[in-house]
This record gives sequence, structure tokens and C-alpha cells, in this order.
Amino acid sequence: MSENTIAIQLDGKEVLLPVVVGTENEKALDISKLRDESGYITLDTGYKNTGATSSAITFLDGEKGILHYRGYDISELAEKSTFVEVSYLLLYGNLPTAAQLAEFEASLASQSLPAGFADLQKSFPSEAHPMAQLSAGVTLLSNYFDGNTSLPTDENIHSLLGNFGAIAANIQNNFLSKDFNQFSGKGFVYDFLTMAFGEEPDQVIVDAMDKLLILHADHEQNCSTSTVRIVGSSHANVFASVSGGINALWGPLHGGANQSVLEMLESIKKDGGDIDKYVAKAKDKNDPFRLMGFGHRVYKNFDPRARIIKKASDSVLEKLGVKDEALDIAKQLEKIALEDEYFVTRNLYPNVDFYSGIIYKAIGFPTEMFTVLFALGRVPGWLSHWKEMRDRKEPIGRPRQVYTGSTLRKYNSINER
Ligand code: SDX
Repeated sequence: MSENTIAIQLDGKEVLLPVVVGTENEKALDISKLRDESGYITLDTGYKNTGATSSAITFLDGEKGILHYRGYDISELAEKSTFVEVSYLLLYGNLPTAAQLAEFEASLASQSLPAGFADLQKSFPSEAHPMAQLSAGVTLLSNYFDGNTSLPTDENIHSLLGNFGAIAANIQNNFLSKDFNQFSGKGFVYDFLTMAFGEEPDQVIVDAMDKLLILHADHEQNCSTSTVRIVGSSHANVFASVSGGINALWGPLHGGANQSVLEMLESIKKDGGDIDKYVAKAKDKNDPFRLMGFGHRVYKNFDPRARIIKKASDSVLEKLGVKDEALDIAKQLEKIALEDEYFVTRNLYPNVDFYSGIIYKAIGFPTEMFTVLFALGRVPGWLSHWKEMRDRKEPIGRPRQVYTGSTLRKYNSINER
């Protein structure tokens, strides 16, 4: 047995498993030949212990609360970079030169929705949840692009990323039964906000939105990104792959939590601010209620993004002159929970979704749009993982299972049953 293989005994046979060590010293057992050599598979419902792939895009350490995009710490990127620059970093692996950034920005700005697509978006029922409109819209985008959109070309990637702001802005206006707006030329975030609200935004809002989008841009193999990778592994086109991620993100256990957090804070407010009642509900095994925005599959320490957003929410609300009781309730809820043995022993801390909705609400977004905003931030991450998977020509994703159903039995006619 050497340091880069381990031996296991299975039914009297020795099986050697290679040990894979990542650049941040994460260790894995490569079991890609396990079934061929032993007939065994592994079982890990929810993939808490299973790596689906290796990746050079994002590193996170849940125990230490560390998050790096291509080696750069999230706090430094949130403070010094821009969403478009971070999108370039995630997609191409390095921070761009001035010329590369200008070219990338120009390519994104040159994208425009195909003729007829806005009418398609207008045809969606305005009362349909914005995430339904986003998923349907992005899937149907494939209808407007010829050429092989299952290839990780800049053309395919830039067409989706460059149009995503307009798609999201149109969805907000369709949801509010308002006219669509067209605007371009002042930057990805500025243009999105102008199209979403029909007026040019205050720089405070542009800066806050840019920071939030950076913080949401990627998070390694989370549920929605894993979905994009597995849908893309069948060589489905880029729009169908990202639409798969949108649907996964919608769930309240994932990106949908940012909407649920605001709804939870509003209920606590309506309930006279009785925080202890909701903390007790969250701890009660017989109550399906969970403290939304709390807990994380990987972070067993503070989500570094939550810290940054919490700090930003104070300054943004102050600059906008917005007083929101929901922020005070959120802070009290965090304090009480982090002093409560139930949350402490389970390592439950605020995650990215706990404070983000407070800023989105202060900017004026309807609660139902919050998860669309999460998707807007995450689309460069999804595209980076899709590109990495397709560039590497990874095989189609097809997990195995352990069968626990009926063993072979004979068909009997209905009058014998
Ligand atoms: C995101 O993976 C990512 O990277 C996702 C994300 C990204 O950027 O892509 O970070 C974005 O999805 C953040 C998470 C947003 N979701 C929520 O805020 C929903 C509320 N949180 C949970 O439902 C839960 O914490 C999860 C889904 C986030 C994580 O669930 P796990 O890892 O499967 O943990 P678990 O359900 O097994 O919980 C472990 C224990 C259980 O109690 P016991 O059975 O041990 O007694 O902790 C309890 C749970 O009941 N628990 C909670 C809780 N979260 C976990 N109890 C009350 N409130 C909660 N929020």
C-alpha cells in the first residue's frame, strides 16, 4: 500500500483504490474501478461524502468558512472586483487584463434578445412565479439559436450570460404587468436595473447589486450546479442545461430560501415579533417549519457570504434611508439562534440567503423575484461548470443504486390477485 493508494478487503479480495489529493489538500478515494474489480458500489444518499468530479473553479472549506473563486478569496473579490470581472475569472480561470475585460464586456453588451422572444415572455401568465417564467424562457431560448448550442463556445456562453439580465428584467415587468424596457451601454448591472425598474438607478443600488451578484456567482457542486453538469453531460444544449439548474435552484431548501426567509421574517413581524415562538417551531421535530436562511450542507461555520451581506445590508439601508423592521428581526433571530444549544450543536449558522432578501426588498424587488436574482448571480458559475465539464469531455452522468424492491415474481391475472 503506498501513500497514493489504499487497499480494502472485499469478500476476501484485495482492492486497491487510488487516493486523489487536491491542491487544497482535500483527499478522495477514486472508486471509478471499484465495481469492475469487486462488484461493489458505494451508497451515499444526498452525496454528503461523494465527489462527483474534480474542479478548478471554486474551493470552499465548510469547517473554516472559506470561499475562493479560482484562488481569490470571496471577501477580496466582493470588495475590489465587479460581477462582470468575476464572471470572466470563473469562466476563463484568471482575472482579465484591461483589454480582455473590455472585450468581454463589449461581447456581453452586444447580445440582444432574439426577435420575438420578448413577445414570448409577454405571453407567459403574469401571475406565474418568476422562476417558472425564467426556466421556461431560458429553455425556449434554444429555439432562437441555430448552430450547435451544446458546445462550450464563447458564442453560446456569452449569448446566455449577456441576455440573462434582460430576460430577468422582462420577467419582473411581466410579473408586475408593466411594460418591458430596453436599455444598454452602461454596464451589465446598471443596464439590468434600468430595464427592471424603468429608470436609471442610484449608484448605491448598482454597487449593492454588483456585490450581491459576485457573492452568488458560484459555489462549487451545489444542487443546482450539479444539475447543470449532469444535464449538460448528456450533451443537452446550454439553455436546457442552465434551465435545469434554474429549476433545482427554485426549491426552498436551495435558492428558493431567500424568498422564504423574507416571508418568514414578515410572518414573525405580523405575529408581533415573537421570535422565541419561531425558534421553538424550528426546533420542534413535529413541526415542519425550519429557520429559513439557516444551516448549510457544507458550511458548519459562518457562511462567509452571509457575513458580507449582513454588513452590506446595514450600509445599503442607511444610504437608501430605508428602515426595515425585518432586518432588526433577522439580527435578533440570528443572535437568539446562535446562543441556542439546538443550533450550536448542529452547526447551524446564517447562510447566503438569510440577509440577501433584505437588500433586494430595500432596492424594490418583489419577494417572488428574489430567487431569479440568485439565478442572475449564479449563471456565470453554472456556465463555468458546464464549460469545464464539456471541455473535459466528461462522460454522461449516470449514478448506480442499490435495489431494494421485489425479487423476480410471475405475472398473475387480475382475478387471482
Ligand atoms: C443554498 O449547497 C450550496 O452550496 C447551496 C448554496 C449555494 O450557494 O449554492 O449555499 C445556497 O442553498 C443555501 C441553503 C439555503 N436553504 C435554507 O436556508 C433552507 C433551510 N436550511 C435547511 O433546510 C438545511 O440546513 C439545508 C437544506 C440547507 C442543509 O440540509 P442538510 O445538510 O441535509 O442537513 P439536515 O437537513 O440533515 O439537517 C441536520 C440537522 C437536522 O436535525 P437532526 O435530524 O440532526 O435533529 O439540522 C437540522 C435538521 O432538522 N436543521 C435545521 C435547519 N437546517 C438543518 N433545523 C431547523 N432549521 C434549519 N434551517
